[in-house]
Amino acid sequence: MAMPFLDSFGRAVTYLRVSVTDRCDMRCVYCMSETMSFLPKADILTFEELDRLCAAFIRNGVTRIRITGGEPLVRRDIDLFFQALGRWLHGRDDSGHLDELTLTTNGSLLADHADALARAGVRRVNISLDSLDPERFRRITRRGVLDQTLNGIRAARAAGLAVRINTVAMAGVNDDEFDTLLAWCGEIGADLCLIETMPMGETGEDRTDRYLPLSAIRADLARRWTLEPLPLRTGGPARYLHVRETGRKLGLITPMTHNFCESCNRVRLSCTGQLYTCLGHEGATDLRRPVRDGATDDTLLHLVRQAILRKPKGHDFVIGRQADDPAAIRRHMSVTGG
Ligand code: GTP
Ligand code: 5AD
Ligand code: SF4
Repeated sequence: MAMPFLDSFGRAVTYLRVSVTDRCDMRCVYCMSETMSFLPKADILTFEELDRLCAAFIRNGVTRIRITGGEPLVRRDIDLFFQALGRWLHGRDDSGHLDELTLTTNGSLLADHADALARAGVRRVNISLDSLDPERFRRITRRGVLDQTLNGIRAARAAGLAVRINTVAMAGVNDDEFDTLLAWCGEIGADLCLIETMPMGETGEDRTDRYLPLSAIRADLARRWTLEPLPLRTGGPARYLHVRETGRKLGLITPMTHNFCESCNRVRLSCTGQLYTCLGHEGATDLRRPVRDGATDDTLLHLVRQAILRKPKGHDFVIGRQADDPAAIRRHMSVTGG
């Protein structure tokens, strides 16, 4: 294999998040505004272009790829893209390979794709679900239908996929549901991951009032559940606890109270071919122009290496920062898929 990607702080980049579309059939209050406008199709990389870029990353040490959106499953022929990337799961030679191919989805269309994903080699999926109450679910997602997402979750389990439920913790919105969600995950054989709200993009909702530090939630849950720290890491930012009563895992993602930047292993490719080396910074390197101008693999690789050398030390999300603060990140979460 060629030389792995290293940043200027000695961190190896082995994990690529690829957003295949900025579109979504939901408008979650922490992610998008009600009136989002989406990009014209010509701006979005084709699957051939995405595949070429993914191959360049894999040949240079990326061993995990997570497909995100927007909602990745709204993109036509997404199953074929997974099938194409799945070829890297089997190779173990010098030309690179994937240890894991996975996705983060809102689950609404998962019932139609779960079998194809499993056949492509996907073994686990992260599914966003912030409430088990239909009316509340609708209010949070602004468009979602709870039953549809639950069907998707059931289909994923039936297809043999491991499921992690992602729940963004919001004060006064779903903070009375964590026990219910934990118990329900135990019943369906899924893990639960609670996430602190990150202040990205104007969504038309004040997220600062909704912000919940997970340290307090963890202490509260520990009164009713036996939570034992696990050494497990999935390559992502979650820290895991074993829940003795359910036998499942509880993950906590705490970018605001305990950032994990020093062990960051990831970069993000947006659906327009922008390479973001940090979720919490606006700067990106355009890879679409060179790809469309016929750049050689060497040129692309050089651009990627230069970008990774400029990867910032970490994000500087600040609790309480308003979306109109000049230092706030204007990019919506849906551009890079979290
Ligand atoms: P695993 O591979 O299962 O560990 O997935 P993951 O947690 O990396 O991915 P997922 O798409 O499920 O993201 C869950 C949450 O973590 C989302 O809110 C993401 O925005 C957030 N997240 C993922 N990577 C980073 C990161 O590098 N920095 C920050 N601040 N948040 C991240
Ligand atoms: N803060 C934290 N998590 C977010 N997500 C989307 N927007 C935010 C935000 N502002 C989560 C979704 C999904 C994952 C990709 O990112 O719930 O699970
Ligand atoms: Fe869509 Fe996911 Fe954003 Fe919700 S969080 S609007 S489901 S991309």
